[in-house]
Amino acid sequence: MLAMRVVLSYSGGLDTSAILLLLKEQGHQVITVTVDVGQEDELKDIESKAYAMGAEKHYTINAVDEFASKIISMAVKANALYEKKYPLGTALARPLIAEKVAKVALDEGADAVAHGCTGKGNDQVRFDAMLMGLLGDSFKIIAPVRDLKLTREQSMGILAKHGFDPGVHKKYSIDENLWTRSIEGGEIDDPTVPPGEEAFQWTVSPEKAPDEPLFLEVGFEKGVPVSLNGVGMGLADMVKELNKTVGAHGYGRIDHIENRVVGLKSREVYEAPAALTLISAHEDLEKMVLTPRELRFKQIVDSWWTDLVYNGLWLEPLKQTLDNALDSLNEYVTGTVKLKVYKGSLTVQGRWSEYSSYSEKVIDYDKGWYPTGEEATGFIKIYSLHSIAASKARKP
Ligand code: ARG
Repeated sequence: MLAMRVVLSYSGGLDTSAILLLLKEQGHQVITVTVDVGQEDELKDIESKAYAMGAEKHYTINAVDEFASKIISMAVKANALYEKKYPLGTALARPLIAEKVAKVALDEGADAVAHGCTGKGNDQVRFDAMLMGLLGDSFKIIAPVRDLKLTREQSMGILAKHGFDPGVHKKYSIDENLWTRSIEGGEIDDPTVPPGEEAFQWTVSPEKAPDEPLFLEVGFEKGVPVSLNGVGMGLADMVKELNKTVGAHGYGRIDHIENRVVGLKSREVYEAPAALTLISAHEDLEKMVLTPRELRFKQIVDSWWTDLVYNGLWLEPLKQTLDNALDSLNEYVTGTVKLKVYKGSLTVQGRWSEYSSYSEKVIDYDKGWYPTGEEATGFIKIYSLHSIAASKARKP
C-alpha cells in the first residue's frame, strides 16, 4: 500500500490509539485531531499520547462555545428528545467533530481521514455522511474498527505490542460531551436489569440526593437560555453549572430502548441533567406563548429535526428549512421559568413571559369575561357539527 497522509479523529482512548499505531505500522503519516466538545478529558495528555505514539502533528480544537451556541441552542429550541427520551448529545457533536476533521484534512492536503467508529453504531453514519458531504464521496475514509472488526482485546494487543500500557478492560463504552454522557456496554446490554451505580458519574442516585430541594430560575430569549437565577450566562457555562447542581440532586438519568439508524435496537443509558432541565423549562414556556396550532405544528417540526440529527443527515436541505422554522417559532419564546429539583424529580413551579397570551382575567370564573349561554351553545353546535353529522351517517 502506498504511504498516505491520514488525518485521524483522535479521542485518546483505546480504539483510536490502536488505529494510530496501526496506521503507523502500515507506513502512513498520521495527523491527529481532538475536538473539545466539553468532554472532561485532559487534552494536554491526549496530545502527548498522540506524539508518543508517532503522530506527525496534533491538533486540539476547542469547539465548546460553538457547540453550545450553534448546536445545543437549536436542540433546546427543538425540545430535541429522540424517541421522547434521548437528548441527542453524541448525535449533535459528531457532525461538528467531522467538520473540524474535514477542515484539517483539506488544510493538510491529506489523502484520507480515519475514525474509530464501529460497524454497528450510528456514529459511523454521522461521521461518514458529513465527511462525504464535505470532502466528496470518493475521498478515502478509513475505519479500522469497522472494516477489520477490531475487538477491544485486539486493540489492547496492538498497544502492548508497541510498548504502551493497554490499561484495564473498561466495562462501559462512554461518549461524553457538554450535553450528554452516553453509557453503553457491560450489564447495560441486558435490558432486563438496572445499570450498576458505577455507570453514573454526573448524577447521584435519588436516594443519596440532599433533603433540601434545589430551586432554579431559567431565563430565555427567543427560545435560548440566557440567564440562571437572574444572572446572565453563556449557554456553555450554564450547561456545565446545571450538570453539576442538578446532577447532585439525582435528576438527569435516562434508560430506554433505542432504535438505531442501522436496523437494530439497543438499550441505552444516559446522564443529561442540564439538557433535561433546559428542555423541560423551554417546553413549558412555549405553552405560555405559542398558539395551540403553532404548538401542534411545532411538535412535527421538533420530531423531524430530532430524527434528522439522530440519523446523521446534517447536510440534508430539509434540516436548514427546519432550522428556519424553529428560529421563527421561537421568536417570542422569551421569559422566565421557575423549577424545583428534588431527589431525582424536576417540577416546573411557575412561568412568565412578556409575550404570554395567558390571561388571568379571562380565565377567572367570577371576575373575568364570561360568554353568554347563547354564545357558548352556539359555538358548540357549529364546532361539533362535522363529528355529529358523520357519526350519524355511519350508523348501520
Ligand atoms: N446511542 C447514542 C447515539 O447513537 C449514543 C452513542 C454513544 N456512543 C458511544 N461510543 N458510546 O447517539
